[in-house]
Amino acid sequence: MKNKIIAGNWKMNKNQEQTIAFINDLKPLVKDTKNTVIICTPYLDLEQAVCLTAGTNIHVGAQNCHWAESGAFTGEVAPSMLKEIGVEYVIIGHSERRQYFGETNKTVNARTKAALEAGLKPIVCIGETLQERESGKMEEVLASQIKEGFEGIDEEQLRRTIVAYEPVWAIGTGVTATNKQANDAIAFCRKQFVELYGNDEAQKLYIQYGGSMNASNASGLLLQSEIDGGLIGGASLDAEKFATVVNAHKN
Ligand code: 13P
Repeated sequence: MKNKIIAGNWKMNKNQEQTIAFINDLKPLVKDTKNTVIICTPYLDLEQAVCLTAGTNIHVGAQNCHWAESGAFTGEVAPSMLKEIGVEYVIIGHSERRQYFGETNKTVNARTKAALEAGLKPIVCIGETLQERESGKMEEVLASQIKEGFEGIDEEQLRRTIVAYEPVWAIGTGVTATNKQANDAIAFCRKQFVELYGNDEAQKLYIQYGGSMNASNASGLLLQSEIDGGLIGGASLDAEKFATVVNAHKN
């Protein structure tokens, strides 16, 4: 089994002072893990986070980036700007961005390509709503999110990309997918990548689970053969709880 990649998505939480306190608390708690640890902070906390984690095993990610290199896009941030300040990862296509900010598979694809071209490692989010799951459309939705979201992305770029399967109904609701639901959905996603990139690449690809993952359910989820890590929202805001998730799986 692979070591896991555990990423915290802080969403729109924590100011600079809280960022400093969190990182100082987290550092000693995760220093011995073999898993990869990432914190995805709001834009304004990124530079601080990069400085404070230098020389540690904690990596820093943003929560979005634009697809253009520069230009008249008021309020947006270019991938190269993130790269310049030492950011390594970037979440793309989170369901909250799809729901509130009009992200589509097409914009997810454009942002992912731009992030890769700038040398960032994208964490591309996919996942079905409750209505889609209950009406039997889950597989169709996931398949098109993958097909359209990864169009034109080559094998070398896929190796620098992480996928996060986040069922929308499990995000922030306290309703976690069961171990089996999460494992089965991720197995289905991996099958789509087998078709697009072949078995070798698809097996190497990291596919995380996200949605109400926390200190109590993380070890069960991370034991599943298809689940290569977690993208954690609420439980990533507290250093001790997040560290428990990071340390939940040992190879
Ligand atoms: P919660 O862990 O708060 O459900 O959020 C998951 C998520 O959206 C991570 O990107």
